[in-house]
Amino acid sequence: MAITFDEGRKIFKLDTDETTYLIGVTPEGYVGHIYYGRKLCRPCGLQLLRTDERPFTPSVMAREKANFLDCFPMEYPTGGTGDFRESCLDVLSESGQKGCELLFRSWTVSDGKPALEGLPASFEHRADESAPSGEERLQTLTLTLADSGLGLEADLLYSVFPAENIITRSVRIRNVGTEGGKYTKSQVLRLTKVNSACIDMEEKNFDMVTLNGSWARERHIGRGRLNRGIQGVRSIRGETSHQEQPFMALATAGTDQGNGEVWAMDLVYSGNFEALAEWSQFDSVRMTLGIGGTNFEWRLQPGETFTAPEAVLTYSAAGFGRMTRQFHDFWRKHMIRSPWLHRERPILINNWEATYFDFDTEKLIGLAREAKQAGIEMLVMDDGWFGHRNNDDSSLGDWKVNENKLQGGLKHLVDEVNAIGLKFGIWFEPEMISPDSELYRAHPDWVLRTADRAPAESRQQFVLDITRKEVRDCIYDMVAAILRSANIEYVKWDMNRQLTDLGSAGLPADRQGEISHRYVLALYEMQERLVTDFPELLLENCSGGGARFDAGMLYYSPQIWCSDDTDAIERLRIQEGTEMLYPLSTMGAHVSKCPNEQVGRMSGFETRAEVALAGTFGYELDITKMDPEERSRIPGQTRKYHRFHSLIAEGDYYRVHSWNDSAPYDCWIVVSKDREQALVTFVQVLGRPNAKRYILPLCGLDPEAEYEMEDVAENAQAGVFGGDELMQCGFTVPMLGDFSSRLFYLKKK
Ligand code: DGJ
Repeated sequence: MAITFDEGRKIFKLDTDETTYLIGVTPEGYVGHIYYGRKLCRPCGLQLLRTDERPFTPSVMAREKANFLDCFPMEYPTGGTGDFRESCLDVLSESGQKGCELLFRSWTVSDGKPALEGLPASFEHRADESAPSGEERLQTLTLTLADSGLGLEADLLYSVFPAENIITRSVRIRNVGTEGGKYTKSQVLRLTKVNSACIDMEEKNFDMVTLNGSWARERHIGRGRLNRGIQGVRSIRGETSHQEQPFMALATAGTDQGNGEVWAMDLVYSGNFEALAEWSQFDSVRMTLGIGGTNFEWRLQPGETFTAPEAVLTYSAAGFGRMTRQFHDFWRKHMIRSPWLHRERPILINNWEATYFDFDTEKLIGLAREAKQAGIEMLVMDDGWFGHRNNDDSSLGDWKVNENKLQGGLKHLVDEVNAIGLKFGIWFEPEMISPDSELYRAHPDWVLRTADRAPAESRQQFVLDITRKEVRDCIYDMVAAILRSANIEYVKWDMNRQLTDLGSAGLPADRQGEISHRYVLALYEMQERLVTDFPELLLENCSGGGARFDAGMLYYSPQIWCSDDTDAIERLRIQEGTEMLYPLSTMGAHVSKCPNEQVGRMSGFETRAEVALAGTFGYELDITKMDPEERSRIPGQTRKYHRFHSLIAEGDYYRVHSWNDSAPYDCWIVVSKDREQALVTFVQVLGRPNAKRYILPLCGLDPEAEYEMEDVAENAQAGVFGGDELMQCGFTVPMLGDFSSRLFYLKKK
């Protein structure tokens, strides 16, 4: 049983294969967090809640209630009644007064994993997999807590995924009003913060790890000592953001890829968030994650329920590497629904860096012809095919084909591309509107704007108020009509600015604070419609590069454009951070031209391909104008993709060395689940004078097996090695020059 309840001691025990999570209920009904970590055979007692220490629980000494609340390790802390640390739930009553105190009422354990209304959420099994039965079924614990003064109930939901060592959490807040006569009041409740998860722990000399960046520098790994007080990351940009990721890990000092303890949380959400860690006065550390309290408000009428997004928690006693693989397995098995998950993705050529806005039918067909010769399988037509858009200053919202550019129309182009033997994909930016567009001229009130000032432009565009049903329906219908008009098999859904001017003409004054969350719900509704109406569509999410690379988006799309930075060396850091949480099969990665468009760097053509092979793989350059030597290499690269893709997409990923950690090179290995084969990617960032060859110890192999090693570039045997030798001692890597790479393929003998 994954979930057990010790009735006598009032302790809930949630077990995965390698972890235990303990929740205790005090005699007064306070729900406390006892433990999360390495698996325990027997639960520890309530003494870890320190209720036998001063300040005593209110039933022992009522006058100490506020002091008690301020140090008790709360499972789901609330604000305003005495706990001065970071709260998860803040509520204002109709009187405008703040305060909430949740006490235990009841619990249930059910089989399976409930869906979360309107939100992406993990599931027990994919539609194309058989349903587990009996002992194999997942279990979900629901703890119901209540504040009888407010007439509020909170369901704390915990689902246990034993094999992946994951526990998911979510929260449903109900305004129960006078329902069933249980509560005396019926009032509107204003929720001003509803976070999804909290863990209260003893301080353990923690490092805090987050993923930080900017446009073209997304998700660099950030690590630093946790200090007293509050530290954390957040987005109030209305989307996940280039700047921060809704993720935080606390790790014991010195933790590396293979050693040390890690507690990590990631939020399944694509909007504002806060991930905070608070080291407080009595040396406890509270880690919270959720949509946070900035730019958030929700009016809950009697009888209504608010559901908070899902937080995904994992613990590793074997360093960051184990954390990573637990997350990867979880997203692949329990979050990504697309039928494309386990399929080989078509190798695409995207015309963005090849042509920008300067293309027409003839140019695209030329690209397709040349691409077909090289083994590429899909042409993606990026921004600029609609309205009168020839640069980024117009036409968003006018999703009608520009027939001056696409002479003969879209269907003609798609048919021609298909006849050449390529699939066809298309770019949209459905959430946006240009001031210079027919749509804006017809509906100036359809943008997010406040009554007090003109909305701010960014990339010469405004944000559509998709919280209004008529707006999202109108956009969706235009997008769907385009998709139905031709054989379009892939969509890149882009979003190129952040949310400002949070005002909606569709909401009353007292609901304007709900816009940020309603926006994300509306986005999810649109994407749900899209994947339901077009179930075979390969959807790639994107946001000005990688500003919406998050678990919420993975529920709709099996791949996400990782960054607008296509330079192979810059990508090392970006992809290392992304891979720390998300499977390689989800990372949009392309080979582009040199000098690189973002940094002007010259790197080898093979290096660019071998770095992009770690993701979904494709090209983003003008293949009709390439250097012939480089062009001649593409067929070999596409063959490599077919040879290694399923290993890369389905295998276990191990980070061997990190340029980010100041090694002069980067190295990672992907090992098949059965450890029969593996692929090592080595990238020399800068060459070194007068240096000896590196000896690289590998990871993840079968120590008892022998492996044949192939140097893929040379297409030659590089020796036979024991798995233990490769892991304990390593193998010598040839000396390479600046920005060069090598692949080594290992096959069990
Ligand atoms: C941002 C994306 O990340 C790029 O790949 C490209 O699609 C542009 N937008 C187009 O405007």
